[in-house]
Amino acid sequence: MKLQNANLSWKENQPHSDLFDDIYFNPADGAAETRHVFIDGNQLLTRLTSWQRPVFTIAETGFGTGANFLHTLAFIEQHSLQIERLHFISTELFPLHKKDLARALEQSFPENPYAKQLIAQFPPLQPGMHRINFSDRYTLTLCIGDAATAFAKLDTEVNAWFLDGFAPAKNPDMWRDELFAEMARLSPPDTSVATFTAAGFVRRGLEAAGFRMRKQAGFGHKREMLTGIKTACPLQQREKPWFAAPKTDKPKHAAVIGAGLAGITTAYALARRGISVAIYDQASDICTQASGNRQGALYAKPPVAPTVAGQFHLCGLAESIRWLNTLNLFDNVQGAQCGVLQLATHEKEQQRQQQLIDADHYSPEILIGVDAQQASQLANTKINYPGIFFPNAGWVYPQALGKALVRHPNIQVYLEAKVDNIEPCDQQWQLGYQQAGDTKAATADMVIIANAKDAQNFTQTSHLPVKAIRGQVTHAKGSATLTTVICAEGYVSPPVDGEYCFGATFDLKDPCESLRGIDHDKNHAQLQKAAPNIAAQLEAKASWDGKVGFRCATPDYLPIAGPAPDLNAYLEQYQALRKDRKANVPSGTPPYWTGLFVNIGHGSKGLITAPLLAEHIASIACQEPSPLPRDIADATHPARFIIKDMIRKKL
Ligand SMILES: Cc1cc2nc3c(=O)[nH]c(=O)nc-3n(C[C@H](O)[C@H](O)[C@H](O)COP(=O)(O)OP(=O)(O)OC[C@H]3O[C@@H](n4cnc5c(N)ncnc54)[C@H](O)[C@@H]3O)c2cc1C
Ligand SMILES: C[S@@+](CC[C@H](N)C(=O)[O-])C[C@H]1O[C@@H](n2cnc3c(N)ncnc32)[C@H](O)[C@@H]1O
Repeated sequence: MKLQNANLSWKENQPHSDLFDDIYFNPADGAAETRHVFIDGNQLLTRLTSWQRPVFTIAETGFGTGANFLHTLAFIEQHSLQIERLHFISTELFPLHKKDLARALEQSFPENPYAKQLIAQFPPLQPGMHRINFSDRYTLTLCIGDAATAFAKLDTEVNAWFLDGFAPAKNPDMWRDELFAEMARLSPPDTSVATFTAAGFVRRGLEAAGFRMRKQAGFGHKREMLTGIKTACPLQQREKPWFAAPKTDKPKHAAVIGAGLAGITTAYALARRGISVAIYDQASDICTQASGNRQGALYAKPPVAPTVAGQFHLCGLAESIRWLNTLNLFDNVQGAQCGVLQLATHEKEQQRQQQLIDADHYSPEILIGVDAQQASQLANTKINYPGIFFPNAGWVYPQALGKALVRHPNIQVYLEAKVDNIEPCDQQWQLGYQQAGDTKAATADMVIIANAKDAQNFTQTSHLPVKAIRGQVTHAKGSATLTTVICAEGYVSPPVDGEYCFGATFDLKDPCESLRGIDHDKNHAQLQKAAPNIAAQLEAKASWDGKVGFRCATPDYLPIAGPAPDLNAYLEQYQALRKDRKANVPSGTPPYWTGLFVNIGHGSKGLITAPLLAEHIASIACQEPSPLPRDIADATHPARFIIKDMIRKKL
């Protein structure tokens, strides 16, 4: 089913759902309603005052205008509650149009900085999970889609439920037994729930799922509402238990090996959580290898019908755009949100794009179909092909992104520092590295291997199936002015200081590190096809320069990000899979190298995959909810190749 925005009308300046014929919140006093029903209904003042753990997680059904979320932040600040980190996970099947959200919030939260940030960073109409960090203390994860379906893809612990929504009689589809079952699955004992309704089937459904419910006085004209506590705790084995997240204490010190996009974004996500991070790179600067391009396109290629990988890439694109906007990197020098045109230069791709547009799975905020004339107008140069246009995408200078992130005070970068080995030692990791001819050592609670293909040089990760793919880009001055990124067989970005960056070649098993004239010719031929006038107006070839880099690719072209499996222990623990892929296997935590994580294999899409996976790794290392639904976390899990090979009896 294609997602739709909420269809609203405004009654006395208050939002009203036409589809459900219901209101979003009490028009007389929405703040008091949230306080009575959800905040007091979950006893948040008492619970948060005495909460000792680093994270408290609230989950909500029906995000609507975000009023419950914003009132909760205001409540925490008003009472100076000292919780370290609040995660607020909400679900929304009919997200508001941004203009409606702005109208609702400008009215209810006129000078509220969190409301302004929510409006600015509200995700596009893209199914899946979208994360917005509000300061380093509050994190909103908005799951766009049906509540029960979204919660079924979470593996986290919820401490309080805001069971909001339109009246059960008006929207019975949301208030299903599956929803109550998922709520129960995510709730350890003592998790609380509160809802504005007192409907009998809701009470019975929650009780059957394992909550002890009671009625109490409702808000305003509503006589009664329901609150409850999780009591019974049926133990459920996670599907694919070999991918379950590790349970470790939040680290204090982390070491990241590799100062490319993967390493730096992970370091930043950890640093934001108060962890002190040391990054080691063998090069003399950050972002010099695959991340060393002058301009990288924020580029996704959505499939005709949505897939797990397609959703990952589009949610990753939205996440990267949020990071780049927050860091003010779209300044037309370090990056630009100028849109990306994906041209269909041959018949097969034209058919594919036509099917994609006809299937109508993607909202115009994500992509629109354009003919050659529209493409020419958007790009400000003659284009001979139709295509699809991503209005919110663009390009960025990866090193500028890296430099902005390593400025975080919790991050220290060690350059010309080549890590040779890592060993577990007394609940910590010891790193041996070479710097300025000296052999040095360092320790950390957590290590993140983010050195791309060279991850194979460490014994713990030597089994990971990555390969290098050489790519050369060309730099050339030119007089024409391109105004969007164009992707076809290759890509070209708008010029910076009159210089174009275009390419790139794509060669397996080619270790040559120097620039080659023949590769400049290949890049130029691709450019001629995509944007002939840009190619024609370049300065003479003798003045061209460029850059060679090596992408790190995996067999399924998805990155490898998460806890590092101990290969031999996996072979032992899950040996039954060799005989029967459905065999019962031990349900405990999988045998990871404690405190060791990996973030590699970003292929040609590191700019849209690295930030989201960095946030995923930092979240699971700190026992916080991940920003990834289970299917994407599993699809990028470092143990997936071991399990696949065991099932196929190759291991
Ligand atoms: C030509 C080309 C064009 C591309 N274009 C795009 C694009 O338009 N859009 C996009 O999204 N992506 C693009 N990519 C892909 C993107 O650049 C990569 O996915 C991303 O940069 C990978 O980052 P990384 O940190 O994993 O790897 P890298 O940037 O390669 O970083 C790995 C780091 O590890 C360091 N290292 C290795 N071994 C050690 C050790 N033992 N000790 C210490 N340090 C070590 C290296 O020095 C290096 O700095 C392109 C890639 C290439 C090559
Ligand atoms: C009463 S409003 C919520 C008000 C909101 N909590 C706020 O603070 O503004 C109910 C919301 O539930 C959403 N909704 C309806 N069906 C849903 C479903 N199946 N899953 C998730 N959300 C749903 C509606 O689109 C609407 O935004």
